[in-house]
Amino acid sequence: MKKRNKYKKALVTGGAGFIGSHIAGRLIEAGIETVIIDDLSMGKASNVPKGAKLIIGNILDRPVLLKAMRGADIVFHDAAKVSIRNSFRDFYADAQTNCMGTVCVLRAMAEEKVKKIIYASSMAVYGKNPLPIRESSKLEPISPYGVGKLASERYCFLMAKANHFDCVVLRYFNTYGPRQTLTPYVGVITIFVNRLLQGKPPVIFGSGRQVRDFIHVADVAEANILAMEKNINFGIFNVGTGIGTSVNKIATLLIGMINKKIKPQHASLRAGEPDDSVASTVLLRKALGFVPHNKLEDKIEELVDFIRTDK
Ligand SMILES: NC(=O)c1ccc[n+]([C@@H]2O[C@H](COP(=O)([O-])OP(=O)(O)OC[C@H]3O[C@@H](n4cnc5c(N)ncnc54)[C@H](O)[C@@H]3O)[C@@H](O)[C@H]2O)c1
Repeated sequence: MKKRNKYKKALVTGGAGFIGSHIAGRLIEAGIETVIIDDLSMGKASNVPKGAKLIIGNILDRPVLLKAMRGADIVFHDAAKVSIRNSFRDFYADAQTNCMGTVCVLRAMAEEKVKKIIYASSMAVYGKNPLPIRESSKLEPISPYGVGKLASERYCFLMAKANHFDCVVLRYFNTYGPRQTLTPYVGVITIFVNRLLQGKPPVIFGSGRQVRDFIHVADVAEANILAMEKNINFGIFNVGTGIGTSVNKIATLLIGMINKKIKPQHASLRAGEPDDSVASTVLLRKALGFVPHNKLEDKIEELVDFIRTDK
């Protein structure tokens, strides 16, 4: 028997991007009418899953946003400028989309009487902390991007309470998988695979011993679906695996898979990047029953094949 959905119509902001398009795919599979708003500054129309309606537009553009929001009862807010390094270079543009964009989304939600928001936050809200990083760990963002994400979280909670809608904040850790947009700034795995496929060495910032919590995009989408389905009115959850993998290990793994003759290069550590970051996943497991299904070792080869053929 087909499951009855609590929500009938979803809006995914940034749904033509990497993570948003996977969330939209899951919503369509669940039989939920899905609208996407994306200005295609990073995303691609070809990422939009069949059955979803794409509205090309900026979340800062009120009439377009209101049109996209009409009739939605849940919002997955994933549109953002996603680059720690660029957020230093142009902190105004970062804040405009990542802070004011969220404010615009919240205002439109209140006007349209939407019932729930699932906000895509980031491990960048934490800064330096002992591992594993818990939701209660010190919030001390070390980049404008992290500051914007934290400010948005706070806006989400305040406006959700004031306007009587539910709010779940998901702090994604390093997400990898198919359809990640290639830029020099985001997604170390995607960047390394692309360089190696071009016969270029991966560039490791710092010693490479820094560990990251790499989570597959399908698991991030699953966490979003659980956050929608469970009766959680307010909550903040890390979305990670709890497993730390060093950047050196990623480079070695990929070199072994793609081109054994290449040696990695080293460059100085970039501002705003935390030393180590691994999520505590206790809360996510307890509250949402979430267990990541995809192991890095199993999925990385699939990703290499995807990038090799995605031309
Ligand atoms: N990728 C990660 O590892 C990671 C980690 C933590 C948090 N996040 C968060 O997850 C969300 C999705 O990130 P992603 O990796 O899929 O990035 P992405 O760049 O692929 O997706 C973001 C999408 O938002 C769109 N967009 C940007 N500005 C917009 C605007 N003003 N109006 C409308 N659309 C706009 C872009 O075109 C893009 O399609 C972001 O909020 C990001 O901060 C990502």
